[in-house]
Amino acid sequence: MDIAAEVARLKREKDAVILAHYYVPPEVQDMADYVGDSFYLARLARTLECSTIVLCGVSFMAESAKMLNPERTVLLPDVTADCPMAHMVNKADVDAIKQRYDDLAVVCYINSTAEIKSWSDVCVTSSNAVKVVRELPQHNILFIPDMHLGHYVSEQVPEKNFILNRGWCPIHHRMIPQEVEELELAHPNARVIAHPECTQEVLQEADFIGSTKQMIDYVAQSDAEEFIVLTVVGVRREMEKMTEGSGKRFYFPRTTPVCVNMAKVTPEKVLACLRDGTGEVGMPTCVEAATTPLERMLELAAR
Ligand code: 13P
Ligand code: SF4
Repeated sequence: MDIAAEVARLKREKDAVILAHYYVPPEVQDMADYVGDSFYLARLARTLECSTIVLCGVSFMAESAKMLNPERTVLLPDVTADCPMAHMVNKADVDAIKQRYDDLAVVCYINSTAEIKSWSDVCVTSSNAVKVVRELPQHNILFIPDMHLGHYVSEQVPEKNFILNRGWCPIHHRMIPQEVEELELAHPNARVIAHPECTQEVLQEADFIGSTKQMIDYVAQSDAEEFIVLTVVGVRREMEKMTEGSGKRFYFPRTTPVCVNMAKVTPEKVLACLRDGTGEVGMPTCVEAATTPLERMLELAAR
């Protein structure tokens, strides 16, 4: 069976739109109507008019799409595709810090469960975190769950006081400076570009730091020909597409960074969920409290 053709037919029949994150396998990105970073997918989910959204990514993305567009059916091709970092913070820790500080904003990376969002004042993504935090009136910022993104933002916004939670993305956290240095020795003319979920030590090696989309835009616009890319290897498809015919080359760490949860989203599962309506995402019980910080992010990022 031609899976792509069958998916295209079912999409029309079910009035469905497929959204995919850059980290899912390239053959799934090829099937999507829209491919993007977390911020783009959240913003887009809000405006879609179709009856069904198939979210090719991990569960926090599908949950956010459902909260931002409650009228639509949202399907997640593999319901076990879950980001481990999305759970790496405790309510007791957040409550204790809320007690300790006046003038505190709880800033929650969108890579978090709806429940964690519901404890927060505002959400951010890697592409808008600096802007959104600067816009906040509060001086004290509790950044959850990602300590590396939180640390990166704290360096960009030194006028605020940051309290960081100890959460991390297992894929970016694992990258080490020695791997980067090895790549730099092999490719001395390459620019080093990194996602802010990488550790502080790795980010120090970078010529450019940004979200997946910002990294893709950087390689497309740069006059360099070689790039050491410090994020999940799924971005290669869009980087190659955007630079086709230019001869630009992309190098990833030797221990190839694959997000096992994003990799669970296969063309077969996209087809099955469209055909059978499986993997429907329910509305979280804390929907009101969790949607407010998402909406606040959309509002502050648009200023
Ligand atoms: P962005 O696409 O927003 O850069 O996010 C990276 C990520 O880890 C998504 O899970
Ligand atoms: Fe979570 Fe990291 Fe995978 Fe993104 S790449 S979904 S942060 S585990």
